[in-house]
Amino acid sequence: MSSIMSRAELRSLPMLQQPNYPDEAALDSVIDAVEKLPPLVFAGECDGLRAKLAEVAEGRAFLLQGGDCAESFEAVTAQHIKDKLLVQLSMAVVMTYAAQVPVVKVGRIAGQYAKPRSKPTETRGETTLPSYRGDAINGFDFTEQARAHDPERLIRLYNASAATLNLVRAFVTGGFADLRGVHTWNRDFVGNPEVEAAYEELAAEIDRALTFMVACGVDDRALSTIDFYASHEALLLEYERAMTRVDSRSQQVYGCSGHMLWIGERTRQLDGAHVELLRRVRNPLGIKLGPTTTPRQAIELADRLDPDREPGRITFITRMGADRVREVLPRVIEGVEETGRKVAWVCDPMHGNTFEAANGYKTRSFNDVVEEVRGFFDVHDSLGTWPGGLHVELTGDDVTECVGGALKLEETDLADRYETVCDPRLNRNQSLELAFTVATRLRKGRRSRGNPVLDFRAKEL
Ligand code: PEP
Ligand code: CO
Repeated sequence: MSSIMSRAELRSLPMLQQPNYPDEAALDSVIDAVEKLPPLVFAGECDGLRAKLAEVAEGRAFLLQGGDCAESFEAVTAQHIKDKLLVQLSMAVVMTYAAQVPVVKVGRIAGQYAKPRSKPTETRGETTLPSYRGDAINGFDFTEQARAHDPERLIRLYNASAATLNLVRAFVTGGFADLRGVHTWNRDFVGNPEVEAAYEELAAEIDRALTFMVACGVDDRALSTIDFYASHEALLLEYERAMTRVDSRSQQVYGCSGHMLWIGERTRQLDGAHVELLRRVRNPLGIKLGPTTTPRQAIELADRLDPDREPGRITFITRMGADRVREVLPRVIEGVEETGRKVAWVCDPMHGNTFEAANGYKTRSFNDVVEEVRGFFDVHDSLGTWPGGLHVELTGDDVTECVGGALKLEETDLADRYETVCDPRLNRNQSLELAFTVATRLRKGRRSRGNPVLDFRAKEL
């Protein structure tokens, strides 16, 4: 059994990418308050997600994990949250129906407010200020006041997460995610006619299948609600520690800021505070693995964070880059598989494919994203392992942040609607297009893996 880590213990560990608060007493009084706040998620829900991720690791389900690179307090509005959910539900339905696999739905949502940065400062002209690190730490405006690290923002982080989660829960259980409404999810879709037509065709097929099932008397509760989970990078150690709670049923410790917590590429040192804090909680964990990862590192991380090899505990989110994935990923997968451990392998085709456009915008090319996804599927196909999921930065809005896709966005279009406060996200159209690409690959795999319905042995009469 593990216990809650104390403040002093946390502060004695090596920590990377943390805020510098000028006033420790101010931080302590915020942490006193956070420790008393109710949990945002519950132990039973985290266990439920862990069980679903165990299905992913076993090759029986696929994970879709998506959302903003960084959420912002300003975007905590009903419209933004609804649009983010809609694009993910649409993607999930494409994958579920076209590929016929259960899709586990997890948002980068309700807590994704802190960012690791490669540079601590940003210089514009003569002025150098601390880098923007996410709304949980400082403000986006390029002023001294906004960029100061302020612990009071941790309370706003909690409130923004609570408000978002509340709406998400209401949406997904209140009939909004009912599969019979699948046509309406993209009603105001202003995008590429091809992607839209493919979606409409699929929606019509789903309608027919649902009508058949309901006519046969299939219980329609399963059609009307879905499980949607919240995840974020557990970067901010003071907040994450203050949000750990002992579950009254099991006496086990859970991170109650989100269902699934992940460790970033820059903070996954074996002896670091991030690994130690997450080792102590029972949530399902994600671990980002970049192109320099050795098989040894992956194995050591899994052993440290999951010594008992609990099904669904570890999800490796690989982000190698389109040009490296075929070379680096096989070794890492083989190394882990050789230990006999079963993990969920998930592709993040975003973070290895970022570049600066000629006009200065940080962007990604949709082609590179698709290419990394293809490489990921190819590697798993050749090793006979299961490509377990997709981790993407996306938004429900028609932004212009990534180039390419069916609408052929060019670098010169980036200025039109470049709204991200951090990394460039796929817009709604690009997200759906990617979902169709993934569904096509999954369907191909399905043929070689067999189909649980067709596997059913009919009784001889
Ligand atoms: C992220 O997911 O936003 C991120 C910073 O990723 P990584 O740790 O893989 O760079
Ligand atoms: Co990002």
